[in-house]
Amino acid sequence: MTRLFDPFTIRSTTLRNRLALSPMCQYEAEDGFTTPYHLVHYGKFALGGFGMVMIEATAVSPEGRITHGDVGLWKDEQIGGLATIASFLKRNGATAGIQIGHAGPKAAMQRPYYGDGPLTQADQARGDHPWQVVSASPLAVGEGWLLPTELDAEGIAKVLADFAAAARRALTAGFDVLELHCAHGYLLNSFLSPITNLRTDEYGVDRAGRMKLPLEIARQLRAIWPEDKPLFVRISAVDGTRSGVTIDDSVAFAKELALIGIDAIDCSSGGIGKPYEYPNGYGYQVPFAERIKSETDLRAMAVGLIVDPHQAEKVVASGHADLVAIGREALREPNFALRAEAALGAANHDSPFDSWPRQIGWWLNHRERKIRQLGPWSANDEAAA
Ligand SMILES: Cc1cc2nc3c(=O)[nH]c(=O)nc-3n(C[C@H](O)[C@H](O)[C@H](O)COP(=O)(O)O)c2cc1C
Repeated sequence: MTRLFDPFTIRSTTLRNRLALSPMCQYEAEDGFTTPYHLVHYGKFALGGFGMVMIEATAVSPEGRITHGDVGLWKDEQIGGLATIASFLKRNGATAGIQIGHAGPKAAMQRPYYGDGPLTQADQARGDHPWQVVSASPLAVGEGWLLPTELDAEGIAKVLADFAAAARRALTAGFDVLELHCAHGYLLNSFLSPITNLRTDEYGVDRAGRMKLPLEIARQLRAIWPEDKPLFVRISAVDGTRSGVTIDDSVAFAKELALIGIDAIDCSSGGIGKPYEYPNGYGYQVPFAERIKSETDLRAMAVGLIVDPHQAEKVVASGHADLVAIGREALREPNFALRAEAALGAANHDSPFDSWPRQIGWWLNHRERKIRQLGPWSANDEAAA
């Protein structure tokens, strides 16, 4: 008996299992438009058995991009490519999720495969020019980073409108799950953290002020996203440094999100404050998911160095989280979920490839039966043949 392969229903959406592909930017879009790369890339994880495939941080405005390669949903023309991907994911059994966000002070950077720093002359020669970035307060992320301007009332109104419009487009594109990105030092995290939010207006000063903008956006999204579809919020449960956001702050934030009708918290951490001052071994963020789950009525998704099927099973079976998101290990092994099903003994004993794409599974089941008749392979058999 495994719990990882129990289906999971949230509102009217049922995930076929508890494994999600964590959102991971590919920096391969063109002016925010997806390309065939994205269809093939995300398609692999649906074919690979994941319960949910979450599309990467998708920018709500051009200035909200981390890099020029970010996927975007700031114009209607960008819906079509994402609709094709959502449709493929669903057709192949995965729940289609998408994360929307604004990079704030971490915008206008190099595509990481060109250097992962500020935009250089070489990047600009490729057409990747910087723009004025914004944040809760005018503090650069670090040396060499752009100096943001403080988001003023007009800027806040635009950000609210951009998130609302992007959510509507994500709905039109056919996604089941929408995730609001409030983590990793990007715009909404810059409001939540006392390190980056030095404002003296109603969007700062104390915990309630710092939560105000993310909560206003979440409330807006709940009004747009249909009642029967789930809304997730990704948080940095703690900043990298112990003097920043604490898990108590995040529990308080999650309780407010629950009142708004948010369904699940995707529990990441860090992005503000280096070096990371918390334990960072295997499953290092699971304790944050556990706290959110035990102190609120929300569902929790655990993420971070969960690399093994038995480890993922333990996270769910222990009740520490409802869902497990896999990031880098899924990049290495897009069939992680199918492999996990076999490793945990959750596959059908007589036709172990039933969960594989039917175009492949029927054939592998056939092969399996034949191999069982032959018995285990050995070098001697081959020599004899
Ligand atoms: C290439 C790459 C891109 C990422 N992009 C995003 C992103 O778009 N949104 C986000 O919330 N986290 C992003 N992350 C963080 C992952 O979603 C995940 O939380 C993190 O890698 C830890 O999980 P892991 O140890 O399973 O990789 C990214 C990570 C990687 C490696």
